[in-house]
Amino acid sequence: MCGIVGYVGSKEAAPVLLEGLHRLEYRGYDSAGVALVNKGRLKITKAAVRVNELRNLVGTDAPSTIGIAHTRWATHGPATDANAHPHTDADSRIVLVHNGIVENYEDLKAQLLEAGAQFKSETDTEVLAHLVGSCYLDGISLEEAVRTALRRVEGTYGLVVMDPRKPEELVVARNGSPIVLGVGDGEMFVASDVAALVRHTQRVVFLDDGEMAVVRAGDFRTFTLDASSTTKEPTLVDASDDEYQLGTFPDFFSKELHEQPAAVDRALRGRLDEQFATVRLGGIGLDPHELRTIQRVKFLGCGTSYYAGMVGANLVEELARIPADAEPASEFRYRNPVVDPDCLYVAISQSGETLDTLAAITELKRKGGKVMGAVNVIGSAIARECGSGVFLHSGPEVSVASTKAFTNMMVSFAMLGLMLGRVRDLSVASGKRMVTGLRALPGQITEILQQSAAVEQVAAQYAGSSHMFYIGRNRCWPIAREGALKLKEISYIHAEAYQAGELKHGPLALIDETCPSVIVIPDDELLAKNISSIEQIKARGGAVIAITNTTLPEGLCDAVITVPKSEPELDPVLLNIPLQLFAYHVATKLGRDIDKPRNLAKSVTVE
Ligand code: M6R
Repeated sequence: MCGIVGYVGSKEAAPVLLEGLHRLEYRGYDSAGVALVNKGRLKITKAAVRVNELRNLVGTDAPSTIGIAHTRWATHGPATDANAHPHTDADSRIVLVHNGIVENYEDLKAQLLEAGAQFKSETDTEVLAHLVGSCYLDGISLEEAVRTALRRVEGTYGLVVMDPRKPEELVVARNGSPIVLGVGDGEMFVASDVAALVRHTQRVVFLDDGEMAVVRAGDFRTFTLDASSTTKEPTLVDASDDEYQLGTFPDFFSKELHEQPAAVDRALRGRLDEQFATVRLGGIGLDPHELRTIQRVKFLGCGTSYYAGMVGANLVEELARIPADAEPASEFRYRNPVVDPDCLYVAISQSGETLDTLAAITELKRKGGKVMGAVNVIGSAIARECGSGVFLHSGPEVSVASTKAFTNMMVSFAMLGLMLGRVRDLSVASGKRMVTGLRALPGQITEILQQSAAVEQVAAQYAGSSHMFYIGRNRCWPIAREGALKLKEISYIHAEAYQAGELKHGPLALIDETCPSVIVIPDDELLAKNISSIEQIKARGGAVIAITNTTLPEGLCDAVITVPKSEPELDPVLLNIPLQLFAYHVATKLGRDIDKPRNLAKSVTVE
């Protein structure tokens, strides 16, 4: 989605801004622009080009120690030079960049047109620029003008505004679209994502919704839309610039896929308690008595995070025998849900910024629900809104398509299930079995990753397919869904997930020699039933690629990828890895841009 970078300090701003935009490229964009100020003169360079080309267009003729920059993902109006940000008001007294959507922009535009404004673009952002300009009257400060304008705005924004005649400050605001300040030594950075600023500083301040800031080289001030001061201390981000670099990998997807042993290891570190056969998840902030009062657990998330929630619900039911389910946060928020005070709600998000999930949390809290987060990005909106929970500790996930965060979500929910189980009826022996199983995961994932070349050969055989089925059941049904999503996202092949038992109720009609099925088949109590599902597919001429942890009858499947055995509850964690490898190799064979799948964004901060 769109990206924002701002700088004020003593360095030349252009390289800082352009490098920052480059770090945000992974979020997806279709145009880019920069505004610089030199000797009181505003220079805007913007076009429907990649950041590298923008770099050439910016040139070096306007050295400036302040500036704002943007990568745009078109919402209002196509990807054109005119629609690219930054935008100005009529006389270029102010210039701004904006992420989010101004919902009442048509009304505001009509009012501004009536007052004589002329627009050069089709964007809601230019309306915002004119609105701020119209409030920026003599004797009014820029921050007051922005505040007054924003009171009339309905919608979401992450916003940075600059007055070229006052090249010493940036005015920043946030509502529903992330903004983080980076605190340097005599310089300040603004960004929509820490990725843009960690190479300069790790001291950051996350703005809250409805909060604004005035940022100068040596300091910053934060306050609310009604001008009440807020107190914000910088915190340290736990990510370094190296983690945003590809190193020797061709793309972030494969880098992050291969980082999974280390990511799982981080998630487990300091949490496994061998002595009491349980785990310590201090961030949840509930004592054993409070944990026992939980009567139900509901997981909420979107896309991959929702599928992780489905895995989590199975784990909690199996290990703690507490009824649990998962629901897409994007549905939950709109259906006037009954909120149960005895239920523990778990909001899941890699980015911590997904608007649908955030809205579900707001609805829950408004109705008195108990909600904890399972979030990767420390300091993100969802982490702050939940206040308690489990950090995933995957390390930064740059690829749009999630890999290591999903794995760490499943691992975290195995720990949550174990903890809830051990304050109830899960025996010490079963607890020990789970702790041992969890501890073995990083090594086992490493073993699976070593089979990448074998998976690649299978992928090469099936990359030409137009459709695929992904079959799973019970514990492995959610990962069949996740496997299908991964294939869709990065290869653009249509993939549909089905429960094995449902095949005969309709989808079998689609099976023929052109439609292969990827079947996840663990060595569990349903093995025989899964084998008969494979036979049903084979009888109709469909090819079967099995992902398993057991030995299947010779010749039953067209391809078999075998992973090490784990505890049955942890099967989804290991059996999912070949699904990621398969999607990756298929997409690579098809020459897809793996890190930037078409039409998708890393964090979905719009409805
Ligand atoms: O950042 P979140 O986990 O809240 O994101 C939720 C989904 O948008 C995300 O998982 C999406 O499905 C990914 N592209 C999956 O690869």
